[in-house]
Amino acid sequence: NIFNAFIGEAKAYFKLLAYAEKAALEGEEQIALLFNAIAEAERVHATRQLNLVKEILVKDTATNLENSFEQEKSISENAYPEFLKEAEEEKEMEAARIFSQARDVEGFHAKLYERAIYKIIKKKVEAYYVCQVCGYVADKKIRKVCPVCGAQKEKFKTINP
Ligand code: FE2
Ligand code: FE2
Ligand code: FE2
Repeated sequence: NIFNAFIGEAKAYFKLLAYAEKAALEGEEQIALLFNAIAEAERVHATRQLNLVKEILVKDTATNLENSFEQEKSISENAYPEFLKEAEEEKEMEAARIFSQARDVEGFHAKLYERAIYKIIKKKVEAYYVCQVCGYVADKKIRKVCPVCGAQKEKFKTINP
């Protein structure tokens, strides 16, 4: 139940941020603030519940890397291709584009984890660059555009050491 509560609170957090954005667009400033405030509260709940199950969910870093690698591999090879196929069958082209980019990006995430598994003792710490459109993650500065979605290099957010 703690785990399910965590999932529920985490979902509520993102949903309420979207509600706040909508309220702001409709000129309802106070309501936008209310949604933002309660989103922040649900984030507190999610964090608190996650903390309670941390010993179960969060292992040592080598295990966490292995687990994250498997997870990314599985969603890029199973879940997203399946979603993509259904979106295409239903002629939902925007969903299909998002699923197809996510499938590719998760594959790249898996590769980064795989490389990290072998470099875990390497001491040098270097930045990562995350595409704010599709989620592609690079360990080198992007020269022109995102290789997955074509977004300009300005769309990348740097995750500094
Ligand atoms: Fe809550
Ligand atoms: Fe991922
Ligand atoms: Fe991208």
